[in-house]
This record gives sequence, C-alpha cells and structure tokens, in this order.
Amino acid sequence: MDFSLSEEQLMIRDAARDFARTELLPGVIERDNLQQFPTEQVKKMGELGFLGMMVDPKYGGGGMDAVSYAIVVEELSKVDASCSVIVSVNNSLVCYGIEAYGTEEQKQKYLTKLATGEKLGAFCLSEPEAGSDATSQKTTAIDMGDHYVLNGTKNWITNGGTADYHLVIAQTDKEKKHKGINAFIVEKGWEGFEVGPKEDKLGIRGSDTHSLIFNDVKVPKENRIGDDGFGFKFAMKTLAGGRIGIAAQALGIAGGAYDLAREYSKVRKSFGTEICNHQAIAFKLADMHTSIEAARLLVMKAASDKDQGNNYDMSGAMAKLYASQVAMDVSVEAVQVHGGNGFVKEYHVERMMRDAKITQIYEGTSEIQKIVISRGLLRD
Ligand code: CAA
Repeated sequence: MDFSLSEEQLMIRDAARDFARTELLPGVIERDNLQQFPTEQVKKMGELGFLGMMVDPKYGGGGMDAVSYAIVVEELSKVDASCSVIVSVNNSLVCYGIEAYGTEEQKQKYLTKLATGEKLGAFCLSEPEAGSDATSQKTTAIDMGDHYVLNGTKNWITNGGTADYHLVIAQTDKEKKHKGINAFIVEKGWEGFEVGPKEDKLGIRGSDTHSLIFNDVKVPKENRIGDDGFGFKFAMKTLAGGRIGIAAQALGIAGGAYDLAREYSKVRKSFGTEICNHQAIAFKLADMHTSIEAARLLVMKAASDKDQGNNYDMSGAMAKLYASQVAMDVSVEAVQVHGGNGFVKEYHVERMMRDAKITQIYEGTSEIQKIVISRGLLRD
C-alpha cells in the first residue's frame, strides 16, 4: 500500500503552505480579535484556485481530486481555521452541491462564478430548532406555479454576511416530512432577503457567521435543485463530502498546534534544559504526533473513497469524528506545553484551542457522526 503523495499533490501542498505562511499568518491574530472577515485573503485564494478546487475546468474549477482538496484545507487550517472554513463551505458544500445535482443552466449561471472565487457561497440548512434534527425545517417554500415563496430564518450560517449565492433548504410540503423538503439557489439582494446580526463566537472569529431571514422571497422555479422533494437527500449527500473538509480542517488545527508546541519545547528552558528533554513534554509530543498521523489516515481514506467513487458517508463521518477530537486534545496539550505563554494570544495556540471546538459541532456534531457510523455498521 502506497501512502505517498503524487508530485502534483506535493506541489499543491507546498503552494497552500506557502500561502498560509505569507498571506494568512501576518494578520491572523488581529482578524481573530476584531472578528474581521479575511476579504483580501479570500480574493487571493480565489485567484489561486482554492475556492473551486474539485470543480470541472469547463466550469472554471481546478479539476483536482478530493485528496488535494483535503491537503489544501489542512495546510490553511494549520495557520487560520477561519479562512479554511470559508474554503471548505464554498468547495465541498456549495460548488459540489451545484455541480453534482444542479442543471446545466444553474452550473453556467452560478457554479462558474463560485468556482473562480468571483462569488462566494453559503449553505443554509440549520435553524433554531433544526440543527441536528435536519428534517424539522420550519422555513417554508410555497409553490406558486412558476416560483416559490420563501419564508423563515436560518441560523449560524458560515459566510452568511458575505456570500452572494445561498443554497437554502426549505420545507415545501410538511405532510411529506423529509420527502417534502427542497433545496434552492437564492441570491443575496433579492427582495425580502435580510442578513441578520453577526454572531460573536468563541472560535473561527474571522469567519462570518450570521442568521438569515427570508420574508416572502420570490425564488424562480428554475432555482430548485433536483426533482421535487430531493432537498433532504441533497443536504445529506452534500454534507457527507463537507465532513471530509471539516475533518481536514480539524487535522490542520491539530497539526498547527503540534508544530508550535514542538518548536517551543526546543527553545524554552526549565530546570536547566530545554523542556523537550523532559519526558513529561516529550511524551506529550509523541502522543500528539501519533494521534495526528492516525487522523490523517482517516481523512485521506475518506477523501480517497470520494476520488475512487466509493461511498464515503461512513469514512467521512469517522474522519470528522476522530480528527475533531484530535484537534481538541492536541490543541489543549499545545497550550499546556506552552505553559503561561499558551494562555497569551501572541503564541497562537489558545486561538487554535478555541477554533478546534467548532469542528466537533458544525456539519453535524460528534454525536451525529456516531449516528451515521452506527447506522452504516448495522445496515445489513
Ligand atoms: N445520502 C443519501 N441519502 C441519505 C443520506 C445520505 N448520506 N442520509 C440519509 N439519507 C436519506 C435516507 O435514505 C432516507 O431516505 P428514504 O426515506 O428514501 O429511505 C432519508 O434521507 C431520511 O434519512 P434518515 O431517516 O436517516 O434521517 P434522520 O432524520 O434520521 O436524520 C441524520 C439522519 C444523520 C441525523 C441527519 O439529520 C443529519 O445528518 N443531521 C445533521 C445535520 C447537519 O450536519 N447539520 C449541520 C448544518 S450545515 C453546517 O454546519 C454548514 C456550515 O455552515 C459549516
């Protein structure tokens, strides 16, 4: 079994690593402090092709595999997880959703702009009472013949204040439960579309999280994705790939925190020697590195399943479940290795610890991943 990356994948990794160090690192603390969206950096990521990596080149994408995409998300996340979630949502939820299930017209009109970074996308599923329980949508889209009328509120929407195109999941027929749900492409600026207040968050503070309010928004029928009633399956299928992106994000947060802890342990002295010479610290590094490597295998296996055309519901959920726990554990230990400095913003690891937590919550909590995995195990 060959675990090595191809020449092309190594080049992509180096490009992402270089971008993260030169473009993301300089302002990352300030953006976190001010909850500032990385507008310039997102523009540059679009120019580098990071926003539509897996999209077919005929729609303006990079035509790359999911392994390359996971590598890029990992590298960006080592430095700035706020930037990487923007990349992850645009690539694996919005671009993928439209490319896999949209009409040719939808691809020409929307995907071409999303893939090049000219426009940014958001995925709007969660509601105050429909986060984990995604079938309990309260947002409605009433069929009026040639259009739908959309009403409701979506919560915790990544890119909510900045996105141009939104994939909105709504109930079209309550009686039919999950079979009465549809997904729509909704443009920012349409009458009745209102961006709610920005959330003041624990982590990924540079990313832009808002509630969105829809008040009698007219959505043309041609903006529905797939056949009538396909919306719930659309959300599930899209989220399955999204979870690979979040798993890669968690892997990157863990890797970034580990790298800093290792470097710090080689220069910080106590009891007359560098602290890496104390087994108390060296054993922590050994555990951190081992768990990161195990998480990497799960993330790459899930990405590779996607590339091979295998089902990746379970492997993606396992990768996210495990990598997000590793991100949490490793970032906490990285703060510990840094001692008092770990509690100080200048040393970055406290931000990584805060950022890590969301990877256990969004695109399905850890408990949801266990539902997906156990149902997969017990299916036959
Ligand atoms: N692929 C295809 N179809 C699927 C599927 C999948 N991966 N998962 C479920 N389905 C289908 C089922 O086959 C079933 O269809 P049939 O009736 O035709 O057989 C239908 O969907 C309903 O399935 P379930 O009965 O399993 O549905 P459920 O109500 O029990 O829910 C769940 C399952 C796994 C808990 C699901 O609700 C879920 O994943 N919830 C979490 C949602 C989530 O991740 N939210 C995060 C918000 S998005 C976000 O965070 C984005 C961001 O901004 C970063």
